Amino acid sequence: MPATSTPDPRAMPAFPAPALPPLPPQRRVMRPGARLPCAPAMRHMGVMDPLANLRDYFEKSPVALSLAQAEGDYTLTMVNGRFGAVTGYAAAEVIGRNCRVLQQDPRLPVGRNRAARARIHAFLQIDRVANVRCVLVNFRKDGTPFVNLLYMSKLRDLGGQVRFLFGSQFDISRAQPDLLADYDRDLGDALARIGPIVADSGLVVEGSLMSIANSAATIAQARFTLAHLDDAGTA
Ligand SMILES: Cc1cc2nc3c(=O)[nH]c(=O)nc-3n(C[C@H](O)[C@H](O)[C@H](O)COP(=O)(O)O)c2cc1C
Repeated sequence: MPATSTPDPRAMPAFPAPALPPLPPQRRVMRPGARLPCAPAMRHMGVMDPLANLRDYFEKSPVALSLAQAEGDYTLTMVNGRFGAVTGYAAAEVIGRNCRVLQQDPRLPVGRNRAARARIHAFLQIDRVANVRCVLVNFRKDGTPFVNLLYMSKLRDLGGQVRFLFGSQFDISRAQPDLLADYDRDLGDALARIGPIVADSGLVVEGSLMSIANSAATIAQARFTLAHLDDAGTA
């Protein structure tokens, strides 16, 4: 065998890497501006899901919940089973899409939802607007219309950047005042409990729940809106 100048690796001294202290969990998993792959993809990639606790919490919640990216077209990144019960859409059918899919139906006259959408735009575009509550005409997957009482607030990272948008949906057109009161209580509980859960991921929930001033009148208005859906006009 000819002599070679390549050092024999077995003869090389070992330099063990110095032991580094482990990073805190959120440093290992959160990257500013990172888009979240779906949970199975993250598990496959061996990455810890930063919002795993939130997923679990979403599924156990008695109210419809949704979470969207706070960038681009605000696409949904997480919805729960109750969201499916209210809208008829399974998670896989709406994840990666904007929730305006619920407004898309030929029966919705041009201009309908204009006032609510203007308030949503203000919430999305103006940093200091912490939350919004509005009613929108929506359609389930099977085409059944309903009036959606939508609540939204913001999830910021510790640097103050809005990372996610939190939403909750309620069919107010088929509700009674006592059901709305129960929903408001459950949503209030959800908001109170979500803070400590997302804190693990370095996120802070913003905004508080403003109760509906006159539930009976709001429900009556929602029913009227639904009954006159086919009439031309604006809401
Ligand atoms: C987390 C989240 C949940 C939302 N949920 C609904 C919903 O249930 N129904 C709806 O009509 N719009 C919902 N929206 C609002 C729409 O996605 C969209 O922002 C709204 O229609 C205004 O934008 P546009 O005028 O571009 O459609 C939600 C938005 C976010 C960020």
